[in-house]
Amino acid sequence: MIKSPLGSRISRIDAADKVTGKTKFLTDMSVPGMVYAYPIYSSIPFGHITDINSAAAESLTGFIGFYTHKDIPGKNQVGVILPDQPLLVEKTVRFIGDVIGVVVADTHENARKAASLIDISYETLDPVFTIEDSKNSSGPLLHETNIACSHRVIKGDISKGFETSHHIIEASFTTPVQEHYYLEPQGCIVIPGEDQIYIIGSLQCPYYIQKAVAAITGYPIENIIVEQAPTGGAFGGKEDVPSEICARTALAALMVKRPVKMVYDRKDDMQITSKRHPFQMHYKIGVSNSGEILAAEVRLEENAGAYATLSSVVSYRASIQGLGPYRIPNVKMESTSYYTNLPPNGAFRGFGSPQAAFGHERMMDIVANKLGMDPIEFRLKNIIRSGDSTITGQELVTSVSAEETIVQARDAAGWMDIRSKSTLDSRYITGVGIAVTHYGNCLGAAGWHMDGSGASVRIREDGQIDVAFGLVEMGQGALTAVAQMTAEALGVDVSRINVLPTRSDRLPDSGPSVASRNVVMTGRAIQDAVSKLTPPILKAASNMMDFPTGLLELKNDQIIDGQTGNSISFNDVLQYMFTHNIPTQSEGWWHVPPLKFDPQTGLGEAYFTYSYATHLAKVRVDTVTGLVFVDKIWAAHDVGKAINPAGIEGQVEGGIAQGIGWALTENFRYDQGKVITPGLTTYLLPTAGDIPEIETIIIENPAPDGPWGAKGIGEPSIIPTAAAIANAVSHALGAQINNLPITPENVLNLIKRKAS
Ligand code: MOS
Repeated sequence: MIKSPLGSRISRIDAADKVTGKTKFLTDMSVPGMVYAYPIYSSIPFGHITDINSAAAESLTGFIGFYTHKDIPGKNQVGVILPDQPLLVEKTVRFIGDVIGVVVADTHENARKAASLIDISYETLDPVFTIEDSKNSSGPLLHETNIACSHRVIKGDISKGFETSHHIIEASFTTPVQEHYYLEPQGCIVIPGEDQIYIIGSLQCPYYIQKAVAAITGYPIENIIVEQAPTGGAFGGKEDVPSEICARTALAALMVKRPVKMVYDRKDDMQITSKRHPFQMHYKIGVSNSGEILAAEVRLEENAGAYATLSSVVSYRASIQGLGPYRIPNVKMESTSYYTNLPPNGAFRGFGSPQAAFGHERMMDIVANKLGMDPIEFRLKNIIRSGDSTITGQELVTSVSAEETIVQARDAAGWMDIRSKSTLDSRYITGVGIAVTHYGNCLGAAGWHMDGSGASVRIREDGQIDVAFGLVEMGQGALTAVAQMTAEALGVDVSRINVLPTRSDRLPDSGPSVASRNVVMTGRAIQDAVSKLTPPILKAASNMMDFPTGLLELKNDQIIDGQTGNSISFNDVLQYMFTHNIPTQSEGWWHVPPLKFDPQTGLGEAYFTYSYATHLAKVRVDTVTGLVFVDKIWAAHDVGKAINPAGIEGQVEGGIAQGIGWALTENFRYDQGKVITPGLTTYLLPTAGDIPEIETIIIENPAPDGPWGAKGIGEPSIIPTAAAIANAVSHALGAQINNLPITPENVLNLIKRKAS
């Protein structure tokens, strides 16, 4: 029996059911009387609808109904931040995948078939696909402007900073689209009731869905109940997108007055739903001879796709983190998202941070190279330490571990040794590279107003404890962390804890399950809930034992008197509480502390605390085929406090796998707005065989505001990976990798260019 749950490497509490196939995912579920819906989407990237003919679909056996924007009882609007996105297109389609209507039929197959028979005529407009085309378009704009949003950080005196610099170095970088490729596609079931709508789905953000469905249907928010089904991966792809899917399915369910299920086929999922924003970045850095960074001017440009969705979050975070955890006195940072006629790009693990990290960490290597300095020495010269300020002028005092992650990764890898051994043999060249990140935990200043979350704890008469939390398990290990934190707070064994599926009516709006915020937010909310339960428990024990409460503590499934060592079992105290009508249930809440931030200048407290990470990659480049093999990655992460070290290793290994894919193999491509890599034969996810040995180094530098000091790990795990690999490949080739993915073609071109 585990007596001290926090910090133990306990197995995931959902593992057995998942590996034995017992877990029912949304795609496995059905309810009596259920019918199926499927979306009809635009087949052209930009244009006006001139006619819709549904005759052929309607004559299909099994056809039940076809619904468009005209059937929406509420407001035809689903944009999560900006109101720029109709749920169903009224006139103008803006990307291949823009949903025009919903077909309902007796089976999934028939719904899909009927959808394909809906004939839509268009008047085409000239589409734009790239950031340059979007900026320079003389044709019709996508919206009132082609700029979706922009953010800036302006600090010090940039011209003076460059004037005093001995060297000014510039470089440009690009990063590609990345598809989430959650193994379970998007889907939900909607059950319409008398005056309630019940929704179960594969999703991250039940409260977003409540709001979206309420707006579309005109139902009060409280009458929309959203439950999260066990979810087979999300990675940001199920942040705002399920709001659209649930709202369309809810519309269909209200129309046919029956439960309706909608699950996207993979190729449609890949065509319609959001992806990681491609970035183009320009960095200009001024340094002194001794390697001190004096000025930085950065332009980040993001391809938002057809609607703004979460671009603003991505653009904001990229602007804050776009120069990494370094001391830079003079900064001009501009981050702008442009509309194009592509599927909207949105949330994906890191929210723009992996892209920004590719920019600033490639730049650090390029500048170090120019100065003839070792890349680690150069970074350590400029790294933020306790008491230093970020580019936004935020002074960081507690839990500042950027340096320690670098030093630990460096020492574990034996950097000097492996760096100098990058010798050329006849065919393979080796290289090593490093990349560092600081990740602002939770929603930050831009999302502060909604950065609160709840948890409720109910001790049952049988001694088991039900915990509800407002965020979700989406594969990351949340259930286990929640169980461990609750057990720790109550001083009981983790086997007592039963974590309930997330459902919107269990707790107040706890915000989105994003931004690596679950452990921090839910952990603090659990502590708050338990802090309300502890006094009555101790009071009951005190009554039973006839001791003052001040000396009692909850520990090892007992209430122990610290002075005498006398104890009474948790279960006995519970019996007393139940026979004396003492409540054993409470609700807790935590909100991120106030942040002072000026959005005009981008100066101030951007996030309340930061996680730090360094990845160090050792690679081997095959000069004949151009293939890059990652031999090993050392990953040093400051997590404040490891709730479950095995869970952290799982996150780190998963994040690195996804980072390797983005860096090397996942070459997502469009032809005129149509996805030409719509499945695993063309979109190459890394497999187990592509994942190297990963050495995870956990650093515990507690954050005062985190629960037991804990900080987020979900996203930091992917952020530096691609940059570290690109730095390693650049080191191997003695050339600069400034664009991802590092395909064999790109590698061979670089080798050829070097030779000529
Ligand atoms: Mo995520 S990118 O925190 O939905």
